[in-house]
Amino acid sequence: MPAALTLTEVVVAFGALRAVDGVSLSIPAGERRAIIGPNGAGKTTLFQAITGMVQATSGRVVFEDADITALPPHQRARRGISRTFQITNLFPTLTVRQNLFLALRGLAPGKFNLFGMPKPSADEAARTEAALLAARLVGREDTEVRALSYGEQRQVELAVSIVNQPRMLLLDEPAAGLSPNERAMVAEVIRALPRDITVVLIEHDMDLVLGLVDQVTCLHEGRVLVEAPPSEIRGNPAVQEVYLGRARHAAG
Ligand SMILES: Nc1ncnc2c1ncn2[C@@H]1O[C@H](COP(=O)(O)OP(=O)(O)O)[C@@H](O)[C@H]1O
Ligand SMILES: [Mg+2]
Repeated sequence: MPAALTLTEVVVAFGALRAVDGVSLSIPAGERRAIIGPNGAGKTTLFQAITGMVQATSGRVVFEDADITALPPHQRARRGISRTFQITNLFPTLTVRQNLFLALRGLAPGKFNLFGMPKPSADEAARTEAALLAARLVGREDTEVRALSYGEQRQVELAVSIVNQPRMLLLDEPAAGLSPNERAMVAEVIRALPRDITVVLIEHDMDLVLGLVDQVTCLHEGRVLVEAPPSEIRGNPAVQEVYLGRARHAAG
């Protein structure tokens, strides 16, 4: 498989702090990859260096053979890099379908006019239906987002992030704060995503993540500590040390 994403010695420094400290990794097209690691390991900052929300201080970010290191976020998005939008980016008084339509058109809420909204094209309608189906939201499409449960709002986030048919999807703790049932639903949605989307997932819930992904990268203090298949993660001494060692220190 050709690489979807290749990072070479990526550094992101905030003043003296190197939140990402020389990360190199390669993710094959279509892979499901987990990024794990304790709080502060640099996981979210690494995502931001991929989406362009922060600029890498040094190193290279290559997406589908193009060097995107210097591109602004919207140009990376146009190439097919999508991230989950937080619930706070959804429009609570609009329906699920209207939120998807806005995302398709790249519209801000101020631009939205319920009565003046142009009819979706056949292509837009098809994309919307595909996203509703993938995010298990069929039957909820005409409900206002504010009337949905927290878990369902997470599903809408997922739908919004895939409605433009991205090439790569970055999910930063998509199951955080959810009940076990809601977590299972989110896992099911991720598992059923088409394999032409490369999925990179930050998640703390080991049970969820290890059942979902092909390969795991464990970050610690901004560096790659371990890269291994999920079957080797729990038993890995270095992973145990950063998770359990930390618990020991916290307890002591
Ligand atoms: N914008 C920022 N300015 C300064 N420090 C930051 C910024 N964003 C993150 N950090 C720091 O970088 C480190 C890595 O943070 P983060 O990437 O959020 O870790 P994780 O997502 O693995 O918990 C932390 O020490 C955090 O405090
Ligand atoms: Mg984080």
